Amino acid sequence: MFWEMIDQVTIGRIQDAAQIVEVVSDFVTLRKRGANYVGLCPFHEDRNPSFYVSPAKNICKCFACGEGGTPIHFVMKHEQMTYYEALKYLAKKYHIEVVEKEFTDEEKRAQSDRESMFILNEYARDYFVKTLHEHPEGKAVGLSYFRERGFRDDIIKKFQLGYSLEQRDAFSIEAQKAGYQRDYLLKTGLSTGGESDRPLIDRFRGRVLFPVHTLSGKVVAFGGRILKKVENTGKYVNSPESDIYSKSSELYGIYFAKNAIVKQDKCFLVEGYTDVLSMHQAGIENVVASSGTALTRGQIRMIHRFSENITVLYDGDVAGINAALRGIDLLLEDGMNVKVVLLPEGEDPDSFAKKQNAESFHRYIGENESDFIRFKTELLLQQVGNDPIKRAGLISNVVESIALIPNRIKRSVYIQQSGLLLNMDERVLIAEVNRVRKRNYERKREERNREEARKEQEETRRGQEAERTGSVRGSRDEAHGETGAGSVGTAPSMRRLAATSKSPYDRFERAILRYVVRYGNIPLYRKFEERKWGEGNQVFHENVLVEEGPGVTEFVQFDLARDRIGFTNPLYRQMFEEACDHMTDAGFNAGHYFLCHSDPEVSKLASELMSDRYELSKIHAKILGEEEGDKDSRLLEENQLYHLVPRATTELKNAYILQKIKEVREEMKRSNPERHVELMGQLKQFQEVRKVLAKELGERIVLRY
Ligand code: CTP
Ligand code: MN
Repeated sequence: MFWEMIDQVTIGRIQDAAQIVEVVSDFVTLRKRGANYVGLCPFHEDRNPSFYVSPAKNICKCFACGEGGTPIHFVMKHEQMTYYEALKYLAKKYHIEVVEKEFTDEEKRAQSDRESMFILNEYARDYFVKTLHEHPEGKAVGLSYFRERGFRDDIIKKFQLGYSLEQRDAFSIEAQKAGYQRDYLLKTGLSTGGESDRPLIDRFRGRVLFPVHTLSGKVVAFGGRILKKVENTGKYVNSPESDIYSKSSELYGIYFAKNAIVKQDKCFLVEGYTDVLSMHQAGIENVVASSGTALTRGQIRMIHRFSENITVLYDGDVAGINAALRGIDLLLEDGMNVKVVLLPEGEDPDSFAKKQNAESFHRYIGENESDFIRFKTELLLQQVGNDPIKRAGLISNVVESIALIPNRIKRSVYIQQSGLLLNMDERVLIAEVNRVRKRNYERKREERNREEARKEQEETRRGQEAERTGSVRGSRDEAHGETGAGSVGTAPSMRRLAATSKSPYDRFERAILRYVVRYGNIPLYRKFEERKWGEGNQVFHENVLVEEGPGVTEFVQFDLARDRIGFTNPLYRQMFEEACDHMTDAGFNAGHYFLCHSDPEVSKLASELMSDRYELSKIHAKILGEEEGDKDSRLLEENQLYHLVPRATTELKNAYILQKIKEVREEMKRSNPERHVELMGQLKQFQEVRKVLAKELGERIVLRY
């Protein structure tokens, strides 16, 4: 997780330094309006400025599409970066040194190896581009090939297409002259050649080259296309797998597509390099290629980061249809909305896009796009005709796909639809889908159990080994800091004995634990959006979950860990740790779990927390006004988790600061003048923190991360 990669102090420094107006201004033209700034929203097609930037709050927000957040959120969203990447980006902008974790020599070497490979690939790309545009052979063979195929110069430049000369070692010689080591030429696969004294040979000789870019635009590999038909030679030669290139985790074109995918909230998936190029040329930029293989989970997740709508574009022949069917179950399982467009017989996206402009292409897609389940059902229906046995097979085939869809509402819409198409009673389909889901679930659980058993064995083995060698096993207590007696990693019974007197933090800890026990993995907030989907006269309206906050337990764990505090009460602590263990279980019901706990102390406390209304109405009264506070219902509280849980953790932090202030004051009473001055300084610092916390308790905004 990210907080393991950059230390908290540095994160804090970055957060303090990043000024929202400066950060946004790098991408959006802002005009001052009152105390705020406004501009055109970069996250949707905005005609009137609806993007507001508040220097006072150091946040931005679009009042039309709702996007926005802190400087970090803005950078993450705009540049499609991870939290970690965004922090690094801002650190660079504000000249803040990022202290990353210490690497071992081994890791450093691997790191610099990868760096060197990237640098070499960049050199190679430039060399091949230059060859294409400037070398007589490059121009006569490579460039004219691209032009004959109808690629415009701006597309050729944008995708950094290149050419490798026919001479068997032209590139290898040039690269070595430029100082690049043989080792890296071999590792990147740019050159081949066995023993150390044998001269290197170019892998891509006589081919036009398509560099493959990572999400951030680094060149990880090349695809080289042959120009003339040669027997026994593949049309494409690709870079081999290497330390920087794993074919199954890259998507061709993603670097050039990511912004458009976000803007259109949709991604087109095609097969090949040239399909991507032609679609860009026709003005459709939200497109990536799977490079001729079935999609992998990693690739799907990459697309999913930008949009959950994917439309698969394939040739209108049998091979194309079968390719479209392959791998789509994985997309459904990942919760993507999958649509399929079949192109006219004999066309692939490349040839088809060449005959269209953006408008006519979009029109064709609009008219021919069908959602995947419908597509599959209709297709299979055509194939099976009236054969009853084949028909049964077809039904179970469709059911298997529907059962993979995680969203219940979407599932039921699909069931309805295919019920109509298959002329089947919906209830039968529902029962079938449920049966398959149950089976899948059980399979997964078994898998998990096996995995856990394996891990446990591994742990025990390592534990025994550690005992033998006398080393101390690292405990995960570290994350909870070094506060209080509870931090001592002793056996549960011992821990309990230690908790005879209550600490000043007890009631705050209890309030936090109460949320953990009651709500466990329920997210702090959920954001819904109405979506329309379907086609023709079958348009469905649906509230789609577009965003979900962290779960209660997850939030508490993170929020306390970042201030290095934990539960001092050993029982609370034990329960919290157990809740953390189940943090990623989708079906985990914390209340039920703790109420049924085999340890009577745990279940007793759980039952108290489940029925404890005092805290609730008190806090409600404060936040919602006296009237609302009395309306004490679980639903009311659940809808307010977003405010309530951060409030509870902040109260605990506040208690720590008050305690510190008290201690310092006590000591000041009996200290000498020199020490007194020192303590004054400390006191002032604590009071600053206290002020911030007090403010947060007054008007708490939860930051998303
Ligand atoms: N591919 C590959 N190796 C091959 C054939 C294909 O890696 N021997 C990958 C390439 O990424 C290619 C994609 O599969 O782009 C689709 O293959 P194909 O449709 O044959 O190639 P196109 O991209 O359409 O190329 P062209 O139009 O130049 O024939
Ligand atoms: Mn093609």
